[in-house]
Amino acid sequence: MSTLIVYYSHTGTTHEIVEILRSNLSCDIERISLRHPLPPRGWRLYLLGGYQSIFRRRPPLNPLGKDPSLYDTVILGFPVWAGHLPSPMRSLLSSGTIHHRRCAIFCSYAGNPGKALEEGVRLLEHHENRVVSIAGFREEMPSEDREQAILSWAETFR
Ligand SMILES: Cc1cc2nc3c(=O)[nH]c(=O)nc-3n(C[C@H](O)[C@H](O)[C@H](O)COP(=O)(O)O)c2cc1C
Repeated sequence: MSTLIVYYSHTGTTHEIVEILRSNLSCDIERISLRHPLPPRGWRLYLLGGYQSIFRRRPPLNPLGKDPSLYDTVILGFPVWAGHLPSPMRSLLSSGTIHHRRCAIFCSYAGNPGKALEEGVRLLEHHENRVVSIAGFREEMPSEDREQAILSWAETFR
């Protein structure tokens, strides 16, 4: 069964989780990026990223390099922004680029995952995807515990 991980990572934590999944699952990965990138860090990132996410903005993305419709399973990964789906992931999931797939979805968060996963599942289901597994990974977990949690989660949809 073929698997693609499509993810957004601004500061690298989601990317680290993706690398753990990739080392365990035989899969392709695709990191999405904004056509007009947000600031790399600092208060302007929180202001703009938070604003876009709270107000459900869908900023344009650069084109994907891989076609999700060619894979049996698509895993979506993203950080939580202001308790919501981060705007780049909202752009992707609203577009319907991922449709009629078997999906698993995860977020990376600092302290409160808010409604991000719920919003992601709703958008995926709107485009006739079947969400089979959901997880949130808190970034401050000790790295061995986190790796174990990620690998255990991968078993739920393998
Ligand atoms: C704009 C912005 C808003 C954030 N809002 C939240 C939040 O509401 N709850 C939370 O737990 N973490 C929040 N965070 C922290 C990120 O979700 C967390 O650091 C995540 O692991 C980052 O993943 P990344 O390194 O892949 O971008 C926010 C970070 C940013 C940049």
